[in-house]
Amino acid sequence: MRIGVLTAGGDCPGLNAVIRSVVHRAVTNFGDEVIGFEDGYAGLLDGHYRTLDLNAVSGILARGGTVLGSSRLQRDRLREACDNAQDMAREFGIDVLIPIGGEGTLTAARMLSDAGLPVVGVPKTIDNDISATDRTFGFDTAVGVATEAMDRLKTTAESHQRVMVVEVMGRHAGWIALESGMAAGAHGICLPERPFDPSDLVAMVEERFARGKRFAVICVAEGAHPAEGTMDYGHGAIDKFGHERFQGIGTALAFELERRLGKEAKPVILGHVQRGGTPTAYDRVLATRFGWHAVEAAHRGDFGRMTALRGTEIEMVPLADATTELKTVPKDRMDEAESVF
Ligand code: F6P
Repeated sequence: MRIGVLTAGGDCPGLNAVIRSVVHRAVTNFGDEVIGFEDGYAGLLDGHYRTLDLNAVSGILARGGTVLGSSRLQRDRLREACDNAQDMAREFGIDVLIPIGGEGTLTAARMLSDAGLPVVGVPKTIDNDISATDRTFGFDTAVGVATEAMDRLKTTAESHQRVMVVEVMGRHAGWIALESGMAAGAHGICLPERPFDPSDLVAMVEERFARGKRFAVICVAEGAHPAEGTMDYGHGAIDKFGHERFQGIGTALAFELERRLGKEAKPVILGHVQRGGTPTAYDRVLATRFGWHAVEAAHRGDFGRMTALRGTEIEMVPLADATTELKTVPKDRMDEAESVF
């Protein structure tokens, strides 16, 4: 069998572990040939690829990013890919394509599959917002980075009697904010799923200072927003891929709290630090299992589906299930975290 693999969309720790796992299982167990398309679907469309043998993936398990490169796909290029799906498979001699990516990548994968290209998807995103899988790799790493950052910010905040407003990633789903906020013991957590009232945060900080605590840390997802009429704030524009641009709630909220509290409030935007660097052991294992199961599925002819973690087992689920709705933080998970506002 000849397998094509690509990584598309925003990168995330664990992508290389999947690539390595695909190559190991395919080459060692089945005697397959694996080719890697460069820079996401762009490599597929432009015919840029290289052979991935055991040596090509040696030493990449713990490496962040993706050795294949990644890019987002513009809609007109996706249509071009769908129109030529079967021709592309013939041209590259691939029996199956394994795209590794988030919601956009998996939507494209489903469209290519519908257009006749044999596809087995692998989900990834630090946001953990793909509904068909309990977890995506990259999330554990991102939560670890954000937690460590808040642990560190607490000590400096206390020295200076400051409020730290830490903005983490998560446009529509606040999983990173929820879990890193809980793990770090943040005094306030603001999620996209629940509009917050800055007055509640002001009251929380004042109550802490009144009982002798000298700092506060507030974890805010980039897509969080104030309830209507509580604070002057609007999220940004739309980028060229049709994604809303979320930039600035951390800074806006810090200014607002400083104004209302008369205490120093500092914004800290963690940004892409959460996506960089080496994956945690958990993410390496999940990514490796996804790669292994993707190759097995390819050999069973289980196309149009993707790997998913259900409980502790890996299952194959229809690509359509992955892209129908976003997995957002449910109310009961918010209730467990006392500091969600
Ligand atoms: O979807 C993953 C993610 O890291 C989001 O959390 C974040 O909003 C977005 O990608 C950032 O995208 P970009 O790398 O294009 O800035």
